[in-house]
Amino acid sequence: MSIPSLLCSLQILLFIIFTYQTKAVYDQINSYHYFCDQSNNRANYTTNSTYHKNLNTLLTTLTSNTDINYGFYNFSFGESSDRVYSTGLCRGDLLPNDCRSCLSGSRENLTRSCPNQREAIFWSKDERCMLRYSDQLIFGIMEDVPNFSSNNLDDSVDVNLSNEVVMSLLNNLTSKAVKGDSRIKYAAGSLPGPSVEIIYGLVQCAPDLSEKDCNSCLVENLQQIPDCCKGKIGGRVVRPSCNMRFETSYLFYETRASPPRSPPTNTTGKSKRSTIVGIGVAIPIGVVVLVFIFFCICLKIRKSKKKFEDIQEEEDQDGKIEVLEPLQLNFNTICNATNDFFDSNKLGEGGFGIVYKGRLSNGQEIAVKRLSGDSGQGDSEFKNEVFLVAKLQHRNLVRLLGFCLQGRERILVYEFVHNKSLDYFIFDQTKKAQLYWEMRYKIILGIARGILYLHEDSRLRIIHRDLKASNVLLDEEMNPKIADFGMARLFGVDQTQANTRRIVGTYGYMAPEYAMHGHFSMKSDVFSFGILLLEIVSGIKNHGIRDGEYTEYLSSFAWRNWKDGTATNVIDPTLNNDSQNEIVRCIHIGLLCVQENISNRPTMASVIVMLNSHSITLPVPSEPAFYMDSRNSQDIISWGHNLAQESINEVSNTELYPR
Ligand SMILES: *[C@@H]1O[C@H](CO)[C@@H](O)[C@H](O)[C@H]1NC(C)=O
Ligand SMILES: *[C@@H]1O[C@H](CO)[C@@H](O)[C@H](O)[C@H]1NC(C)=O
Ligand SMILES: *[C@@H]1O[C@H](CO)[C@@H](O)[C@H](O)[C@H]1NC(C)=O
Ligand SMILES: *[C@@H]1O[C@H](CO)[C@@H](O)[C@H](O)[C@H]1NC(C)=O
Ligand SMILES: *[C@@H]1O[C@H](CO)[C@@H](O)[C@H](O)[C@H]1NC(C)=O
Ligand SMILES: *[C@@H]1O[C@H](CO)[C@@H](O)[C@H](O)[C@H]1NC(C)=O
Ligand SMILES: *[C@@H]1O[C@H](CO)[C@@H](O)[C@H](O)[C@H]1NC(C)=O
Ligand SMILES: *[C@@H]1O[C@H](CO)[C@@H](O)[C@H](O)[C@H]1NC(C)=O
Repeated sequence: MSIPSLLCSLQILLFIIFTYQTKAVYDQINSYHYFCDQSNNRANYTTNSTYHKNLNTLLTTLTSNTDINYGFYNFSFGESSDRVYSTGLCRGDLLPNDCRSCLSGSRENLTRSCPNQREAIFWSKDERCMLRYSDQLIFGIMEDVPNFSSNNLDDSVDVNLSNEVVMSLLNNLTSKAVKGDSRIKYAAGSLPGPSVEIIYGLVQCAPDLSEKDCNSCLVENLQQIPDCCKGKIGGRVVRPSCNMRFETSYLFYETRASPPRSPPTNTTGKSKRSTIVGIGVAIPIGVVVLVFIFFCICLKIRKSKKKFEDIQEEEDQDGKIEVLEPLQLNFNTICNATNDFFDSNKLGEGGFGIVYKGRLSNGQEIAVKRLSGDSGQGDSEFKNEVFLVAKLQHRNLVRLLGFCLQGRERILVYEFVHNKSLDYFIFDQTKKAQLYWEMRYKIILGIARGILYLHEDSRLRIIHRDLKASNVLLDEEMNPKIADFGMARLFGVDQTQANTRRIVGTYGYMAPEYAMHGHFSMKSDVFSFGILLLEIVSGIKNHGIRDGEYTEYLSSFAWRNWKDGTATNVIDPTLNNDSQNEIVRCIHIGLLCVQENISNRPTMASVIVMLNSHSITLPVPSEPAFYMDSRNSQDIISWGHNLAQESINEVSNTELYPR
C-alpha cells in the first residue's frame, strides 16, 4: 500500500473513531456506547479478586439464562462488599434468542472496555440491549445518568411540523409504555408524518421501575428531544432506566402480529438450583406487550401517496400498521390495470422485460414490470426480488407493492414514481437546468441514504449491483428513489463480499473487481455511487467525453482536473457558482469512491458523513480505476474487452424503468 493511500485509510479510520466517540452520527455509523465507573472514582477491583470472580459468575449466569423470556434480567451474586448487582435489558421487540446473544456480545465488549471497573454500563448498537453492573443495589431504582443522545444529522423535510408530530407520537407512546407490567414497559408505533414519510417511534423503561419513575425518566427524555433532535429525521435519548428513539425514514424496530416473546417455560423448581440469587422472577407470561398507536387516516397525505399505502399497509382493529407480504395479484387485474399491456402504457423496456404504467380499479397508479419469458431472470431470482424488495422500506427506495405469478407470466407491481428517472433530466441539455444545485445535492444524499439502508440498516444486507442514473427515479418533489433490486443478492450476516459467476450491472458503473472477477461487495456499490455522483455534478455521462480524437472517461476527466486544481471544469455549466466549494467537495467525494483499491473507497456510512459535514478533511483520492488518457487509451480498450463483454451481452440492457 502506498503512503498516501495508507494515510488516507488512516484518516478515514481516525475519522470513524472520532465519530464513534461523538454522539452525532449514529445513523450513519452504527456503534455501541459504554461508560465505566461514571459516578465516583471507586477503587478498581484487582484481577482474580473475589469481586472479579463474583462478577464473572454473575454475568455468565445472566447471559446464559434461558428461563426468562421477557427481556429483562436482574441478578446479584456474592456477599457484602463483594456483592455484584447486574441488570440486562433488551429492546422490547427482540426475540429471546436475539436478546441472549445481544447480552453475551455486550458482556464481552463491556469486560473488554471497562477492565477492573466496579461499575459499568454498555448499550449495544441501536440500544438493542443494555448490560449494566455495579457494586451497589441498582434494582428498582430510577437512574438517569450516564445518558447520551444523538440525532440523525439532516434536517427533515418539514422541520417545524415534524417536530410537533414526533413529540406527540413519543408522548403518546410514553403513556402506553409506563402502563406496562413488571416484565416489560415498552411501546412502539408509527404514524404518517407531515409530508410523505412515516414517523416511527419507540420508548422503553426498565420494567422494575414503578409507573411513576418510568414516567419521570421518559419525560426527561422527551424534554431533551427538542435540544438534541429538533428538525432531524431521527434521534434518540438514552439513559440507564429508559430510552426513546424516533426515525422518519425507516422502520427500525420489529413489528409482529404475535407477541414478541415466546411463551414462558415452566421454571418453577428450577430456580433454586444454582447458588446464584436469581432475583429475576420467572413469572409465566401469557401476554406480552406490543403497543401500537392509533393511525389517523385523515392526515393530509397526498392522495396518490395515501393510495399506494392502502395497497401495502392495512390497519387492523388496533389501528396498527401491519406491513403485509407483497400482494399477490390476479393476472386479469393487471391486464385491466394496464389496458391489456397496451403499447401506449409502456414506460420503458429493460433487460428483464417491459414496464407499463397501470391504474388499479381504485384509481391507484402503479408501474408494472412484465418479465419476458426469456429474460435472464429465473424463477428463483424472481422470488428473490419479490421477497427482498417487499421487506425493504425506505423513502429512497421504490416500493414493491405486489406481484403476479400465473403460468409463464411473472409480473412485479411497483409504486408509480412520477418524474421518470434521473438520466432523463441530468443528461438532457435543457432539462438539467431544472436541477439546481440544492436539488442535486438532495438527490445525491438521498441515493446515498438508500444505499446505506440496503447495506447496513435494513435487516438484510443487500448489494444493489446495478446502480446507475436510469435506476434512480424521481418523485414529484424530486426525491430520489432507487429502483430495480432484481439483481441484489441476499448476504449472510457476516458475509461482506462474494463472488459471482454471472455478472450483472452496467458497463461504466461497474467496479473493476466486479467487472473483471465477478467479485462484488458493498464497495462495488460505492464505486457505482461515485460514478453516479460525478455524473450528477457534471451532467456528463460516464461513457466517454470526446476531446478531439481521444475519448476520456468521466472519472478520469474529473481526477485529472481535480489533481490539476481545475476541478471547476468538471462542474455542470448550468449550475451557478455560489456553491462552488460544496460542489468541488462532492467531486472529491466521488473520486474517493471510484478509487481502484477497494479498501481506499469509503463505506456508504462514511460517504454520508462526508456529505453532511463540511468541516471534515477528506483524504486525498488516488487515481481512479477507469483512468484513461491519450497515453494509455490502448489499455483501456483492451480492458473494456475483458471487462464486461459478457455482462453487456447478458443483462446490461436494463435501461430504464419506468421511462
Ligand atoms: C482503574 O483502572 C483504570 C484502567 O483500567 C484507570 O484508568 C483508573 O485510573 C483506575 N482507577 C482507580 C481509582 O484506580
Ligand atoms: C488469575 O487467575 C488465572 C487463572 O487462575 C491465572 O492464569 C492468572 O495468571 C491470574 N492473574 C493474576 C493477575 O493473578
Ligand atoms: C462488540 O464489539 C464488536 C467490535 O467492536 C462489535 O462488532 C459488536 O457488535 C459488539 N457487540 C455488541 C453486542 O454490541
Ligand atoms: C443528560 O441528561 C441531562 C438532563 O436531562 C441533560 O441536561 C444532559 O444534557 C444529558 N447529557 C447528555 C450527554 O445527553
Ligand atoms: C419554522 O418555524 C420558524 C419559526 O416559527 C419559521 O421562521 C420557519 O419559517 C418555519 N420553517 C418551516 C420550514 O416552516
Ligand atoms: C396522542 O393522544 C391524544 C389523546 O389520546 C390524541 O388526541 C392524539 O392524536 C395522539 N397523537 C398521536 C400522534 O397519536
Ligand atoms: C427483578 O425483576 C422482576 C421483573 O421486573 C421484578 O418483578 C422483581 O421485583 C425484580 N427484583 C428486584 C429485587 O428488584
Ligand atoms: C410447573 O411446574 C410445577 C412443578 O414442576 C407444577 O406444579 C406446575 O403445575 C407447572 N405449571 C404449569 C403451568 O405447567
